[in-house]
Amino acid sequence: PNVWGGAGPPRPAPPRPLSPSLLLILVTSAPGNSEPRQVIRRTWAAHEGQTANQWQSVFLVGQSADIGVAHGIQREQQEFGDILIGNYQDTYRNLTLKVMHGFKWVAERCRPSYILKTDDDCFVNTDRLPEFLLEHNTIKTGLYAGSLFSREKRQVIREPSSKWYVSRQDYRPDEYPPYASGIGYILSLDAVERILWAAEHVHPIPVEDAYVGILAEKAGIRVKSSARFAKHNVRWRVCNYRYLMVIHHLSPQEQEVAKGNMLQARSACHESLEVTRWK
Ligand SMILES: *[C@@H]1O[C@H](CO)[C@@H](O)[C@H](O)[C@H]1NC(C)=O
Repeated sequence: PNVWGGAGPPRPAPPRPLSPSLLLILVTSAPGNSEPRQVIRRTWAAHEGQTANQWQSVFLVGQSADIGVAHGIQREQQEFGDILIGNYQDTYRNLTLKVMHGFKWVAERCRPSYILKTDDDCFVNTDRLPEFLLEHNTIKTGLYAGSLFSREKRQVIREPSSKWYVSRQDYRPDEYPPYASGIGYILSLDAVERILWAAEHVHPIPVEDAYVGILAEKAGIRVKSSARFAKHNVRWRVCNYRYLMVIHHLSPQEQEVAKGNMLQARSACHESLEVTRWK
């Protein structure tokens, strides 16, 4: 069935992947979030640095029941060509479906060396991350890195009214294995493929980042903890932008400030020692 309704123009084509590409950034976004997407396009996703032709960002968006919003998405994709529109209902409990759909598209159509999965309220340091992957990262396969949760925060939530509720039928253990926060994690392409393989054998749960952790464990991939992924948005100093790769929870104004700091950090931080490891 034509989810867009008979009256609209034909459904726009999926994004055109760069090839070969170093890094694909998958950004989960709700259909109505056109403002955060616009801000991202003019801040960290604007291609300005030396590695600009080696990475690409794509928004993951599902179906909206609101016809006006659905048409808006279609127009946005026609204009920018950076939205992967999935055939699932776009709800929070469907976030796992959204991310798995993105992974499948990456594995089948895009095949970059690495992916970063992040959200539309995050800042991504596109000035440093591609360069870091090219010049400093030594873990070329089986890479899964991000900000890990403490053991207490890995307890499975059994309270049915919670946004993160998971039943015992869907996942039996009381604790998740170590996993990287969904604000941002990096996977090498082989890790994406192994995770997709594991997904064929493990029942999905709606907690996307925990599910990826469960799949990674099943696929024999060990998660790497890195302080380069910041769960808390504090007033980072300019030279912190030589180090941080993802910062969570930014308003549109803060995205502009973060971009300014990222650009300033290129030339302003010659005094600070370059950190070349994940930690
Ligand atoms: C997820 O999307 C599917 C396919 O559109 C839909 O049938 C299902 O109801 C959605 N689930 C939730 C929890 O929103």
